[in-house]
Amino acid sequence: MKSTLSTSRLDLATNSLDWVMGQTIKRSLSLKNAVEVDADAKDYIPEKPIETLYIHIPFCHTLCRFCSFHKIKFVEGIAREYFKALRKEIREVIAKGYTFNRVYIGGGTTTILEDELIKTIEMIKSITTVREVSCESDPIYFKEGNPHLLKGLVDRMSIGVQSFDDKILKASGRFEKFGSGLQQAEYVSRAIEVIPTVNLDMMYGFKVQTPESIAWDLEQTIRLSPDQITTYPLTIGIGKNRKKAGSLAGEPNELWPQFLAVKQALGDKYIMEFPWTFSRNFGQPVENKYVLDGEDCFGVGSGAFGRFGEQFNISSFDIPTYIERINAGHSGTCYTKPLEQKALIQHHLMMMMGHGVLDNQQFKAHTGKTLWQAFPLEMSYLHAAGAIKKQGSNYRTTTEGQFIALKMFSGFLAGMDYLREQARELPLSQQQDRELTESVLTCTN
Ligand SMILES: C[S@@+](CC[C@H](N)C(=O)[O-])C[C@H]1O[C@@H](n2cnc3c(N)ncnc32)[C@H](O)[C@@H]1O
Ligand code: SF4
Repeated sequence: MKSTLSTSRLDLATNSLDWVMGQTIKRSLSLKNAVEVDADAKDYIPEKPIETLYIHIPFCHTLCRFCSFHKIKFVEGIAREYFKALRKEIREVIAKGYTFNRVYIGGGTTTILEDELIKTIEMIKSITTVREVSCESDPIYFKEGNPHLLKGLVDRMSIGVQSFDDKILKASGRFEKFGSGLQQAEYVSRAIEVIPTVNLDMMYGFKVQTPESIAWDLEQTIRLSPDQITTYPLTIGIGKNRKKAGSLAGEPNELWPQFLAVKQALGDKYIMEFPWTFSRNFGQPVENKYVLDGEDCFGVGSGAFGRFGEQFNISSFDIPTYIERINAGHSGTCYTKPLEQKALIQHHLMMMMGHGVLDNQQFKAHTGKTLWQAFPLEMSYLHAAGAIKKQGSNYRTTTEGQFIALKMFSGFLAGMDYLREQARELPLSQQQDRELTESVLTCTN
């Protein structure tokens, strides 16, 4: 544990960082300058494959109190209509000439209709040459579903556990539907038997957690021997979800000792790829799994975001509108927004900080500027906070710096929440004037 002096200096540094990030998010991720896509506009098709085709499945069995991802409570009829429209959208995107290296199916809960998921992946594999398919699931699928049917179709499965501690499962609303920590451990071990690469999502920063309880939680996780572990700091966002998630969150200054507990618990058996992702593949280069890691990404489905180059794309967040748009032959993307170069390189700085080395040469090759030219204020701040140390012409991230990168990652998640919140309110000229027949459709968390 660090000295009080060092801890309070870090507190001050991270508190001011929180404030600056809040302001930056509001400014650079505002959708005020988003432009509705003209139905007749010509698509820009890059020559090279786009790294990821992101597919969003916005349905869940249960709506967890901390979560602000785009989802509604599962209704089978709507979900089937949705999958049908989704396959139509994917076929059209491929027919236009877009190509992709990998597919990431996120949610929500992608395994919620196993037959529809299988049909969708089989269709994609039959018309593309993608080399990797990742999905996200809740743990109950591995009790109630037939995961062996996903063999040969899904290469990587990310399962949300969050905690094996029943207190946290109950507080977040996950105990009732997904079972106790002990039961979930059993379902996860079934997943590990059939899926080539399994990631477990764990969370910390909840009110009832302590460094000791986190160490216990991660001990249970390591026992299952997943290939990867993602440890998310509970993010309370800056919008409407703030109240719900905030009621579950501990004090901000508790996060630093908890981060140290995470590092220590996983340090022996897992490699820290980023301060929020750990991998069991010793010595192997690990392809990073988090879809929004700065690489180009094309989003399909309701509530999907995509980014290529300096353009940010947004699909309809209203599920019936999305289905109508696709069935009427329109594109799923309904708004675009130009991204500031500054926001893009700030993302790059977060990834470099998280990765552990700020490589001046690589950065210059990428942006045309040195780190100090691009980030005079940020570099002075990181230096003064003891977050980076000079190493030759580069900088190495210290443990304090890793923590700051983690806070930046949390800021990035909050930024995505902010985008989702604004995107839900965007008017659509193609949206039909009708009442939503099922109140459940507005039941996003
Ligand atoms: C969108 S969910 C999909 C996984 C699956 N539906 C499940 O929960 O079992 C992906 C992960 O995001 C993380 N997450 C959701 N809300 C979060 C929040 N407010 N702060 C940090 N992480 C969050 C959780 O760890 C969750 O497993
Ligand atoms: S964390 Fe909960 S609400 Fe969010 S996507 Fe997963 S199951 Fe759904």
